[in-house]
Amino acid sequence: MHIVHYSADLAPFRGCVLVPTMGALHAAHASLIEHATRHNAAEKGVVVSIFVNPAQFNDPNDFSSYPRTFERDQALCERAGATCIYVPTVDDIYPPNSLNAPIKLPAIAIGLGLEDRFRPGHFEGVYRVVRRLFELTHPHAAVFGEKDWQQLLLARALVTREKMMIDIVGSPTVRDPDGLAMSSRNEHLSSETRESALGLSRAIAAACAESDVASAERAAWRTMVDHGVMPEYAAVRNAETLGPVQCDQPRETARVLVAGQVGGTRLLDNGAWN
Ligand code: PAF
Repeated sequence: MHIVHYSADLAPFRGCVLVPTMGALHAAHASLIEHATRHNAAEKGVVVSIFVNPAQFNDPNDFSSYPRTFERDQALCERAGATCIYVPTVDDIYPPNSLNAPIKLPAIAIGLGLEDRFRPGHFEGVYRVVRRLFELTHPHAAVFGEKDWQQLLLARALVTREKMMIDIVGSPTVRDPDGLAMSSRNEHLSSETRESALGLSRAIAAACAESDVASAERAAWRTMVDHGVMPEYAAVRNAETLGPVQCDQPRETARVLVAGQVGGTRLLDNGAWN
């Protein structure tokens, strides 16, 4: 497995499948990498980028305390079948003054009352870094986790807007046996708050047991509260546009999206409304 620090050394991997990450890798990332190895462009290599992107943190403390575990990450990438790890320098990603150029976000990341509302500035940072990673690695395809559903849709909107011929592949959420979606943030949970965190996946199940959108959203919200989660949103939306569900829309094209705080840790989850 190759380790590349400068974009000039990425030429042999043009046409690869890219898995963008911020490191601190766990089993869900391994699943993204394995998913990438099964893509038909994987013969050009699977490149995992590891870059803790300062532009997407609203809280500077969150950025500085973000876990950096390169040796462990390297071993995980190798086991999962990556061809190359790209660990860019900040200058490669953000040449001087590039952070001053404004970003006009696509509709999927604005005014929806979801992540866009609770993490102001976050999607500008994600858009900036993903566009730059695509420019530097020239992938044929890129794999994103479905757990960050709005981010996955943003990546799709980005390639359309930037006219980039990149296949954006969603990889299913990996869960612990009790249903908790895997996330680097789960490390911050105690045994007590981990129990509360189950409120998110159970909220999705509660929404699925209801037949109309309003009851589903209420049930999801109540389930989070009952588990001790401080909900931020519980929404049933059109899975592709994240707009309201139309009354004639088939139920399987809607998505339940939830987020909340559990003992100071912010968690999110989503699932099909089925
Ligand atoms: O999901 C993440 O880890 C990040 O938002 C991403 C896509 C790697 C961009 O920094």
